[in-house]
Amino acid sequence: MMNDINKVLKSTAKRLVADHKGLLAMDESVSTCNKRFEKLGIPQTAEFRRLYRELIVTTPGLGDYLNGAILFDETIYQSTSDGIPFVKKLREAGVLPGIKVDEGTIDLIGSPGERITTGLKDLPERLKTYSEAGMRFAKWRAVFSISTGVPTKAAIEANTRELAIYAKYCQEAAIVPIVEPEVLITGMHSIERCHAVTGSVLAELFVQLREHDVNYEHIILKPNMVTSGDSAEMQATPMSVAQHTIECLANHVPAGVPGIAFLSGGQPPATAIANLNAMNLKNGFATPWPVTFSFSRAIQQPALEFWAGKADKVIGAQNLLYTQLERCRQARKGVYRI
Ligand code: 13P
Repeated sequence: MMNDINKVLKSTAKRLVADHKGLLAMDESVSTCNKRFEKLGIPQTAEFRRLYRELIVTTPGLGDYLNGAILFDETIYQSTSDGIPFVKKLREAGVLPGIKVDEGTIDLIGSPGERITTGLKDLPERLKTYSEAGMRFAKWRAVFSISTGVPTKAAIEANTRELAIYAKYCQEAAIVPIVEPEVLITGMHSIERCHAVTGSVLAELFVQLREHDVNYEHIILKPNMVTSGDSAEMQATPMSVAQHTIECLANHVPAGVPGIAFLSGGQPPATAIANLNAMNLKNGFATPWPVTFSFSRAIQQPALEFWAGKADKVIGAQNLLYTQLERCRQARKGVYRI
């Protein structure tokens, strides 16, 4: 039984980062999706969220660039206007469906300004339901902000412990956990500070994964890139981001981890793609793990802005989505040219 589960986990994890492809995060919660819609004047209704997700899953050729798509609970039960479930549509395109299982963040008690992710309660039961609905991998995001004295040791320990418990529950359910510790880009900090904080978070994360008996050969790590803060005067170049990021990961992430799939974290899409490209340049860094993308905004933003809720803009938006995916794949191969 255990051997069977391990075989499933191993093959799913391998599949998620295979063939120089990546992952699409389309798992925005109702409130995050609504906030993005509000900015563009799109009605914040379940039907418009469905229409938007339909636009994504019916984009021709998704499987050329994607191994998997991370969905949100609302989306996995929705269908296209002609009645085909989104999950089926993705599978037909060769894209594995996955599911965000965290339930967002709340204030961390005793640590003003810091957050802790929620959603462990009932997680084993929810994973069972998701497995029956065809989900083969899951995602849990923890956030760490950078400011004076922050993140605290308490926030790092609490959030990485939860990531480890989540990962253990997933593996017991034969679901590959995407482990997402995100050091937020917000702030004026230097790239060196981001490097130090990301290193502390990753160090504690692997301590917690070991303590909770998580097999790190059956996870996908979804970290932030090591960058300057978004309001820092000096913005690091793609080569500097690549050097800091790969050095930080090499110091903390075991070689047996099957893959790294970065979040874009609110970087301008072109910057996130250029940074990923720099990490994959030929004759650049010899990393033990494939280094790919699991972007949401850096893939979706141009298409969402163009669509803006208009039926006659669907095909144009799909073309933009496709172009953005093509760029991501080029960056995954280190052959992206601006
Ligand atoms: P971004 O690429 O927009 O950071 O989103 C990735 C993600 O999955 C956040 O949880």
